[in-house]
Parts: sequence; structure tokens; C-alpha cells
Amino acid sequence: MSGELQLGWATADDAAALAQVHAEGFPQPWDAAAIHRLFAGPGVFGLLARAGERPVGMALCRVAAGEMEVLTIAVDPTVRRRGVARSLMATALGAAREAGAEAAFLEVADDNAPAAALYASLGFRRAGLRRNYYDRGDEGRVDALVMRLDLTSQPS
Ligand SMILES: CC(C)(COP(=O)(O)OP(=O)(O)OC[C@H]1O[C@@H](n2cnc3c(N)ncnc32)[C@H](O)[C@@H]1OP(=O)(O)O)[C@@H](O)C(=O)NCCC(=O)NCCS
Repeated sequence: MSGELQLGWATADDAAALAQVHAEGFPQPWDAAAIHRLFAGPGVFGLLARAGERPVGMALCRVAAGEMEVLTIAVDPTVRRRGVARSLMATALGAAREAGAEAAFLEVADDNAPAAALYASLGFRRAGLRRNYYDRGDEGRVDALVMRLDLTSQPS
């Protein structure tokens, strides 16, 4: 990795950097304006990992009504499998606990094995299925698994 990895809280001012990383993770990425708007919502917080000056990891989450939702997470392909996502998730889950959340939820595409493995390794378990949730354009639609982590019985 070029430069030491640093992880910090992101604000709306980081929308462009967050969008840059998001675009490395998803075929239909969220643009900077959409990410900027998200920060105006209640309970939304973001994390940005940088290698030197370069943004390489991002996560956006929301805490509401005692639950934390992972809205999105992405890591630049050049630095994957080095624990960046695990660090982002650990920080986000810690913040959620501090905010009083009792559970964390997320949706993951049924065919996204790397992400499902990441969440399972953190203790998330399958809690439901949303059929045809993601639109993959010409490839059709794919189901989403809903995954849940109990934050009351897990260590930080
Ligand atoms: C999913 C994603 C965020 C993982 O980021 P990462 O920084 O590479 O993940 P980490 O290095 O922190 O991996 C932590 C653990 O997750 C699991 N994992 C991550 N990538 C994996 C892969 N390709 N295959 C199998 N397991 C994987 C492993 O258990 C891993 O631990 P290990 O490396 O000690 O075996 C990254 O692949 C990505 O950005 N994908 C595209 C966007 C995406 O799918 N986001 C999630 C949408 S729900």
C-alpha cells in the first residue's frame, strides 16, 4: 500500500473522495452530490480510509431507532484483503454501540461472496431475503440477503 493507512470520520465535505472509492466498488456508483445529500439525513455517519493522500476505503451508515444500518461499504481493489473493510466495520459498529444501537443490519447481494464472508466473519447472520432487490441492468435482478448482528451481546 502506498503510504500508511489512516481511517477517519468523513463529513459531507468528503463526498467527492467517498464517491471516488464507491465507484471502485459498484457498477452503478453513488455520485458525490448524492453522498453529500445523504449526510443531511438524521443519524448518518461516514468513514474514510486513506493510504497516504489516496482515498481507498469508505463506509456510510445510519443509526436510527436503536438500530444501525450499513448503507454501503467499498474498498479500492488495489488494497483489498488487507483488513480495510474489517477496520471500517469495527469502527462503525463501535460508534453504533456508543450511540445506543442494539442491532446492526445490512443488505448484501445474494451473489456477493466476499461481502457476505466479511459480514459473517464479524458475526452477522442471515435474517431475511429480499427477492429481486438489486437491478443489474442487462443481467437482470438479484436477491438481497438481510443480515443482522446483535450489538447487545457482542464484544466491541
Ligand atoms: C467486500 C469488500 C468491502 C471487502 O473489503 P476488504 O478490505 O477487501 O475486506 P477485508 O480485507 O477487511 O476482509 C475481511 C474479511 O472478509 C472476508 N473477505 C473479504 N474479501 C473476501 C473475498 N474476496 N473472498 C472471501 N472472503 C473475503 C474474509 O473473511 C476477510 O478476512 P481474511 O482476509 O482474514 O480472510 C470489498 O471486496 C469491496 O469493496 N467489494 C465491492 C463493494 C461491495 O461489494 N461492498 C459490499 C456491498 S454489501
